[in-house]
Amino acid sequence: MYYAYFASALLLASGLATARPTIIGAIYFITNDPSGNNVIVNTMDHSGKLSYSHAVSTQGKGVHANSPTGGPDALFSQDSVKVGKDMLFAVNPGSSTVVMFKINHQNPSEINMPVSSGGDFPVSIAFYENTNEVCVLNGGHVNGVQCYWADSIKGLIPIPNTTRSLGLTQTTPATGPPGTVSDVIFSADGGELYVSVKGTPPTPGFVATYKVNKANGSLSNKPVKTTPASGGLLPFGMTLIPRTKAVLVVDPATGFSIFDFTKGAPAKTTIYPVKNQLLNCWSSISRKTGNIYLTDAGTSIVTEVHVNNQLKANIVKQYQIKAGSATIDSIVTSVGGNDFLYVLSANVSSVDVLSLNGPGQATHLQTLDVQSAVASSGSPVPIHGVNFQGMAAYVVAK
Ligand SMILES: *[C@@H]1O[C@H](CO)[C@@H](O)[C@H](O)[C@H]1NC(C)=O
Ligand SMILES: *[C@@H]1O[C@H](CO)[C@@H](O)[C@H](O)[C@H]1NC(C)=O
Ligand SMILES: *[C@@H]1O[C@H](CO)[C@@H](O)[C@H](O)[C@H]1NC(C)=O
Repeated sequence: MYYAYFASALLLASGLATARPTIIGAIYFITNDPSGNNVIVNTMDHSGKLSYSHAVSTQGKGVHANSPTGGPDALFSQDSVKVGKDMLFAVNPGSSTVVMFKINHQNPSEINMPVSSGGDFPVSIAFYENTNEVCVLNGGHVNGVQCYWADSIKGLIPIPNTTRSLGLTQTTPATGPPGTVSDVIFSADGGELYVSVKGTPPTPGFVATYKVNKANGSLSNKPVKTTPASGGLLPFGMTLIPRTKAVLVVDPATGFSIFDFTKGAPAKTTIYPVKNQLLNCWSSISRKTGNIYLTDAGTSIVTEVHVNNQLKANIVKQYQIKAGSATIDSIVTSVGGNDFLYVLSANVSSVDVLSLNGPGQATHLQTLDVQSAVASSGSPVPIHGVNFQGMAAYVVAK
């Protein structure tokens, strides 16, 4: 059943090279709607600006987690959509499935049939490009990870001996944000899988580290857990720090932490407060500026952070996005020597685009109102910004 697939809508508009020569890539997020989940495809031109293109069904359902407000950040997670090579992966949190698309800018793309996520309420996806291993993080009653081989023909093939329980007491969908899973990523060398889990204050959360057997993809039976240094409670989005064996872990209890895995797990951790922060949860990195950008759903402020080779961090600058936007997931892309930061502004059903002109020199380029764009396209796809989640990018020519 994993082998069935069918041609579906385009992921990237067809005829890129001819009819619409200015399109050089796309960014993706999920509507995560309970009546039917869709990937929203926004195409990108050379200036970094976006246009709404179309929506593609993920053949499954979204769901909003149980939270006091029911507001933005429906999954309490980062990486609910992920691009790896020319593949796009997305979770269906309301169906407990994960789905793989083939991105093809010349022909109609293919969507492989969704496969079981190996648990309940999947919210985050990791990809390791040397082996095409994909790991999915489940955050519901049955929580933990499950890994797959991403096969360009067959889709997602479950890998034996990779179902690992985190043993959290949770509901489906999850109830939080405290006590929920956040993010899953591979280490740069693919030898470890990191899973961030928020604590239930005053009990801190942790980052669980599984060893990955690169020959057969299997995971160590038990993870090694690292709790953040004092002040850290709610490990959320994770970004690898280049040229080191360290991870920046955003933490809405205070700001962020550096987890240094140089000497293995458990990591050595350092906490960094971000002044005025409310809900810093997400992060992405720019190769051009070398800096990491955090987004705060409460203040709608982007915080630019520099981490030096000794793993000392400092805040370079903060940028106010329109108050009330509720900035959640983000991704940076490089286009013709320029880097752009795409931020999902869930409370206003929009994507904000920042041009990263250099360290400390980001400028606001665009706000794409996705709700209006979908409505004026005549698409019947239901749009509720509070359900939006995830952000991933594909660039045709760098
Ligand atoms: C994967 O390789 C490890 C180490 O060689 C071995 O212990 C394990 O049984 C293998 N697992 C599977 C599913 O092949
Ligand atoms: C599963 O993988 C672990 C770690 O690689 C290994 O110790 C264990 O023997 C494997 N079990 C099976 C059934 O392959
Ligand atoms: C979301 O927008 C409403 C107004 O529509 C505003 O009252 C609320 O504060 C916003 N939420 C966030 C988290 O920015």
